[in-house]
Amino acid sequence: MSHLLITGGAGFIGSNFVRHVLRETGHTVTVLDRMTYAANEASLAGLDPARFGLVVGDIADAVVVDDLVGAADAVVHFAAESHNDNSLSDPWPFVHTNLIGTYTLLEAVRRHRTRFHHVSTDEVFGDLQLEDPQRFTEETPYNPSSPYSSTKAGSDLLVRAWVRSFGVEATLSNCSNNYGPYQHVEKFIPRQITNVLWGVRPKLYGEGRNVRDWIHAEDHSAAVLRILEAGAPGRTYLVGADGELDNLTVLRTILRLMGRDEDDFDHVRDRAGHDLRYAIDGTRTRAELGWEPRYTDFEAGLRATVDWYAGHREWWEPVKAATEAKYAEVGQ
Ligand code: NAD
Ligand code: DAU
Repeated sequence: MSHLLITGGAGFIGSNFVRHVLRETGHTVTVLDRMTYAANEASLAGLDPARFGLVVGDIADAVVVDDLVGAADAVVHFAAESHNDNSLSDPWPFVHTNLIGTYTLLEAVRRHRTRFHHVSTDEVFGDLQLEDPQRFTEETPYNPSSPYSSTKAGSDLLVRAWVRSFGVEATLSNCSNNYGPYQHVEKFIPRQITNVLWGVRPKLYGEGRNVRDWIHAEDHSAAVLRILEAGAPGRTYLVGADGELDNLTVLRTILRLMGRDEDDFDHVRDRAGHDLRYAIDGTRTRAELGWEPRYTDFEAGLRATVDWYAGHREWWEPVKAATEAKYAEVGQ
């Protein structure tokens, strides 16, 4: 049994991962989270206090980080500024958290010789053309597009350098687009579901031809736990579930599942520098770790996600108006 320090555990994927670990293992968990706008303490409600604790703090605060890393057997690093649109309006928090925060954690795990897993994104590879038969592999060169993805790429490179230069025992994972419960309503799928529930029309950027490769957050959590248990230090693992769909198709499916006309949405201003397509080839990860996605029926996963948002209005409604007001300011 081990004690895990999980950064960003009050966010979307981090909170799913905390529940996954407490359910599937005997580990105890401390979450370090700054509780930014993206966090929600309610996502961690009801967890066993004998096995779980929350520390509110910044991953770029070396004093707080050193104490917590010193008490942990392993660190799983989810904390990040995670939303591309926000990175276009104000890149600084992305530099602070994704770069300086990751650097601060790396220095602490180096001092304490602590196992480290860095959670990253497929966006570090840039984008693919729609008709390109290629998908991203572990060998694809980094070519990030946005302030968000460039700071995530930088954080990956810091981890690799700390492995090679200082012998830090770290693994990395680059995952595709997650969906599921507890995702902030700024993101595509929850934004459209809650727009319908809230009585406003869904918003599609541009023509909606952009392709994302969807994976359920529960499958991502299982993959990260498997990497923590069986991953080889220094290795990068690509995590995906063969879930490529264009945004228009996803939006029309949401509208149909919610009993609406499939054309009942607005086209809004496109995202600047909008990546066209992401696609993960997860063959090597599956072969090496024996991990397989379980939520492979996207429509069933989407229906369950619609039901979750319909049944948890108290979780998302308090932040909905402010999120939509921010989008309205930029015509989205
Ligand atoms: P999120 O925005 O929902 O949650 C991020 C969490 O980090 C929040 O709880 C926030 O309060 C916390 N945080 C931010 N800055 C912090 C700081 N300085 N110190 C401590 N905590 C801080 O993000 P998410 O979607 O759950 O993503 C989690 C991780 O997974 C990120 O590293 C992201 O790059 C990566 N990732 C996300 C996806 C996706 O589809 N959402 C896919 C692949 C990888
Ligand atoms: O690929 C992994 C990445 O997936 C993660 O690293 C990021 O943290 C995560 O936010 C996500 O990035 P995207 O930019 O792909 O996700 P987002 O939900 O913002 O948008 C998904 C697609 O939907 C994208 O093509 C933009 C489009 N979109 C988004 C919003 C919010 C719309 O058409 N309308 C919208 O209202």
